[in-house]
Amino acid sequence: MKLLYDLPKKDSEAFKAASSGDEKIMYSVPYDFEGEKRVNGYIVVTNAFIYKILDGDILFKYDISELSDFSTEVLYGSCGFYAKKNGISTLLCMFISGRNLSRYSVVAAGCELIAKKASNEPLTSSEHEKFCPKCGRPFLINTQICPFCQDKKDIYKKLWGMTKGLRLMMLFPLFTAIVAMAVRFIVPAIQRVAIDNYILKEGGSSHLTEFFLIVAAIVTFDLINRALNVVQGRLAAIAGNRFMRILRSMLFEKAESLSMASIQQKSTGDLMSRINNDVAVVQNFITNLLPTYVAQLFSFIIALILLLALSPMMCLFVFIPLPFAIFFIFKFWGTMRQRNVHAWILARRTHIYLQDNLNGIRVVKSFGKEDKAINDFENYTEAQSAKEESNAKLFDTVFPFVGFAVRLGSYLILLYGNILLFGGDGRMHPGKLAQFTNYSNIIYEPLMQITTIPRNISAFTTSFSKILEILEEEPEVSDIALPIDIRIEGDVSIKNVSFGYDSYNPVLKNVNLEVKKGEMVGIVGHSGCGKTTLINLIMRLYDVTEGSIEIDDVNVRDISQNALRSQIGVVLQETHLFSGSIRDNIRYSKPLATNEEIVAAARTANAHDFIMKLPQGYNTIVGEKGLSLSGGERQRIAIARAVIHNPRILILDEATAALDTETEKLIQDALNRLSDGRTTFAIAHRLSTLRNADKLLVLDRGKVVEFGTHAELIEKKGYYYKLVMAQRLAELAKQ
Ligand SMILES: Nc1ncnc2c1ncn2[C@@H]1O[C@H](COP(=O)(O)OP(=O)(O)O)[C@@H](O)[C@H]1O
Ligand SMILES: [Mg+2]
Repeated sequence: MKLLYDLPKKDSEAFKAASSGDEKIMYSVPYDFEGEKRVNGYIVVTNAFIYKILDGDILFKYDISELSDFSTEVLYGSCGFYAKKNGISTLLCMFISGRNLSRYSVVAAGCELIAKKASNEPLTSSEHEKFCPKCGRPFLINTQICPFCQDKKDIYKKLWGMTKGLRLMMLFPLFTAIVAMAVRFIVPAIQRVAIDNYILKEGGSSHLTEFFLIVAAIVTFDLINRALNVVQGRLAAIAGNRFMRILRSMLFEKAESLSMASIQQKSTGDLMSRINNDVAVVQNFITNLLPTYVAQLFSFIIALILLLALSPMMCLFVFIPLPFAIFFIFKFWGTMRQRNVHAWILARRTHIYLQDNLNGIRVVKSFGKEDKAINDFENYTEAQSAKEESNAKLFDTVFPFVGFAVRLGSYLILLYGNILLFGGDGRMHPGKLAQFTNYSNIIYEPLMQITTIPRNISAFTTSFSKILEILEEEPEVSDIALPIDIRIEGDVSIKNVSFGYDSYNPVLKNVNLEVKKGEMVGIVGHSGCGKTTLINLIMRLYDVTEGSIEIDDVNVRDISQNALRSQIGVVLQETHLFSGSIRDNIRYSKPLATNEEIVAAARTANAHDFIMKLPQGYNTIVGEKGLSLSGGERQRIAIARAVIHNPRILILDEATAALDTETEKLIQDALNRLSDGRTTFAIAHRLSTLRNADKLLVLDRGKVVEFGTHAELIEKKGYYYKLVMAQRLAELAKQ
């Protein structure tokens, strides 16, 4: 993220005049409001002072050591940068949140350090910019792409790259077009001979043989042409499907590799609609429409050259109406484009709604909200189809007239040709006229096709930019150039870790923890204090903001994600079983596991007995379409899945929270066996289940407040003691 903006000339001069030579600029960032007005001002922070500069004027210069408690605050419609001056909270400047909030949160932290004389170096931030520096519009989510300033050449290059191996097939329409063109030029020429030399000649019947020969030639050419079209159609089908497969796999692969942070910003329905619908639109354009367009363009040029050679005058007639038609088409293009984007948004909304409500159908039913769901869905589809209908109607109304405008020239040719013919001076024969009209038709066909380009291009670019949004996204968590594939022993050390999902809102603050291999650590604290966040960081679903996490003295950033996650076993509160057999679900993390291994894992998880009681045992189908298992049963399958690959680190996040006490015992028993000899991080709502943990880490609002064994912490009568007592009271009250 940029923290050192270049000042405009006027501001820079003002700053030079106001500052002394030995001041070092640490930060220089823009602010956006002065009172109610939008402005382009700058806050400049040096190692001693903080300046506010607007249009060549220094609005203030404060000694930074007189200020404290730098902070940012979200106001209505904008944000403020504050500090305390002589104990009074003072607004330093106001700025636009999306564009500058994370910037100012870094600057605030930096100023705090300068004020305390804790650092002489400016902080840096690896967070990406969210707004285009050129035009100020937001980037596509999690990318550095501005849809407005993006170099279109780049997009097309990428697309071209994706067509590797399919190019010959895609070029075939061009070849067909050339042959078709040749046929279509030859046939009118033959027809002309037939009309002028045989049909209109006196005693035409004596030329019957020649005439039939000519018909036969025409039929043959037509057959050749059609055969080529068949080949072209078949090749297009192959190329189309391959391209679709390639693009879909690329998208799915990318979607799977995206970091949790960005997955959470997208809905499943949205991702699915991109992988299904948008890919189909792009595929159709690339493998069907585009080659056709190229071929048509090519035909158009050839037809034009030939027509010019035959009769420049006729050519002129073709082109007289064209400028009007083209103007019309461009106007129309703009409108259609906007309408298509709108239709896409509506379609996506319907899709997401559908997905959401089918996934949550239990909730819908249990609240008796079926009618509302149906009603909402109808409204959405109605809006979508109304938009699509109106787009189609507009297109189908305007398009024929575009066609008429384009073809106007052919009527002129007919008129002119007939005038010449009736003039009877021999400048025109019926055969020649027929040939001309035929040729002008050859030119009109590609022209008419070209008029459909705008509609298809706009549908294509809309869909393609949606796809690019995903393809171009840089995963926030990614492997370094040469990641290490370590064999994990299980020592984990968390050093001075701070983290926030948003940089301006820290969730964990300066957490430290040392765990030896094989130890079990319980993480305790109120809901929302950051327990799950801490284990997310250990699994490296997110990268820490400050500090480091080391496993066996290697920073998790340097370990390949694959090696890391394949040696961590996780059991969460919510278990997702994939559609398939219980066996498949258990061996999910180790597809080549033997039957013995699967049964052993199930036994460890206390799952073997209940599985054997099912009519089909390990082959019972579970998941979306399968047998419904109870929460405890699902959880035990999840545990079996977590142990089968013998992970060195085990993570249990409220694994028993949703279960009744009886089942919990069974599972607790399984978990105890499981954690034996593995480094284990356990989060549990019921504190009693963490009693045999080697150490307990107690968190409060992201900070470690206590650390020690259960006995030590009870002895201490501090925060943990209070938590335990409160829970006992609550349980007593229940009984
Ligand atoms: N993906 C996320 N994006 C933004 N904030 C989050 C996200 N996940 C959790 N938080 C916030 O972080 C804080 C800690 O959450 P979490 O670690 O899940 O708490 P715990 O597991 O202790 O209940 C909460 O305030 C929560 O709202
Ligand atoms: Mg949690």
